[in-house]
Amino acid sequence: MSEAADKQPEAEAPRPERRPRVFSGIQPSGTLHLGNYLGAVRNWVDMQETHDCVYCAVDLHAITVRQVRAELRRNTIDLVNLFLASGVDPERSIVFVQSHVPAHAELMWILNTITYMGELRRMTQYKDKTAEAEGESIAVGLFDYPVLMAADILLYRADAVPVGEDQKQHVELTRDVAERFNNAFGKAFVVPEPIIRAGGARVMSLDDPTKKMSKSAGSENSYVAVMDPPDVIRRKIKRAVTDSGAEVRGGPDKPALTNLLDIYGALAGEPVADIERRYEGKGYADFKADLGEVVVAALTPIQARIKELEADKAYTVDVLKTGADRAEAIASRTLAKVRERVGLVPRP
Ligand code: TYM
Repeated sequence: MSEAADKQPEAEAPRPERRPRVFSGIQPSGTLHLGNYLGAVRNWVDMQETHDCVYCAVDLHAITVRQVRAELRRNTIDLVNLFLASGVDPERSIVFVQSHVPAHAELMWILNTITYMGELRRMTQYKDKTAEAEGESIAVGLFDYPVLMAADILLYRADAVPVGEDQKQHVELTRDVAERFNNAFGKAFVVPEPIIRAGGARVMSLDDPTKKMSKSAGSENSYVAVMDPPDVIRRKIKRAVTDSGAEVRGGPDKPALTNLLDIYGALAGEPVADIERRYEGKGYADFKADLGEVVVAALTPIQARIKELEADKAYTVDVLKTGADRAEAIASRTLAKVRERVGLVPRP
C-alpha cells in the first residue's frame, strides 16, 4: 500500500465545542509602527471574541537579519508588552516567544524536505530583501524563512491567520505545503486561511505612498512608531506628503490621501466616504491636524499601559512562562502526529 493511500483519521479528534483557532506572529526586530498595529495587532485583539488565539513574538525569524543581542532581548519583551497593552488578554489567548517552543524549529526541518526551492525563490519578500545582496552571502535562513512561518502556523492547527497584505503570499505557501504533506503522508495539518482586514491591511509610508510603511526602510518620518510621543506623532502626520490638488479625497490618482484617509478610517472606525464628506470644502491642513489627534488618541492609552507593564517585569515573564507551557502542549501533539506520519521512530 502506498503511503498516500495509508490515510488515517484526523490528528486531533474533532471537538465540536472548539472555536476556530488563530495563529499569528510579529518579529521583534525593532520599532513597531502603525502598520503593524493596524495590519495585525488590532485585529488580533478583536479576534479573541470569536476565536481561540495563539500569538507569538517570532524571535527565530528576527535573527535571519543580524541582531544586537541586548536589543533583541529588549525588543522581544517590548513586543510582548505591546501585545498585552493593546488588549491581547493572556487569560484568554496564548502569548509566547517562538524560541521557547523548540517544536517550531523541528517541524521546520520536516517541512523543508517537502518545500521546493522554486517556491521559496518566488517569495516577494525574499526577492525584496535580497535584491541588493550578493548571491553567495545571502543567509540560508532568509531564504528558508517562509518554511519556519509555515511551521509556526501548522503546529497549532490554526484555521485562520490574521496578517497584513504583505504576508499573504507566505500564508498561501503554508497552505500549499500543508496540502502537500497531508496528501503525501496522511492528514496531519489544518489548511489555514489568511485573514486580511480591509482598513489598515497595507499602511503606506508617510513620505512615499508607493512604499509600504516599514521599520527597516525609509527615514524616521516615513512611519509613526507605536511609542512615538504625541508631539512627534503630530509632527510626522503634518509632514506627511500629500497629492497635488487640495481636496481631501482618496482614489487611484491620490495615493497619499488614500493612505491617510485609510489610517483615519481604521483608527476612528469610520467609513472613508463619511470622512471625505466631512472635509468637503476644507483643506489638507485641517484634515492632517485632526488625523494627528486621532492617532494620538489611539496610541496614548497603549503607551501608558506599556509603561505600567515595564514597571512590573515579573508579570510579563509569568505570562511568557504560562504561554510557552500552553503552546508547547498543542505543538507537541501535532509534532508527534507528524513524526508518526513520516515514519520517525518514537523516542522510547
Ligand atoms: P512582520 O513582523 O514583518 O509584521 C508583523 C505584522 O504586521 C503586518 N504589517 C503591516 N500591515 C499593514 N501595513 C504595513 N505597512 C505593515 N507592515 C507590517 C504584517 O503583515 C504582519 O501581519 N513573517 C511575519 C511574522 C510571522 C508570522 C508567522 C505571521 C512569523 N510567523 C506566522 C503570521 C503567522 C513577519 O515578518 O511579519
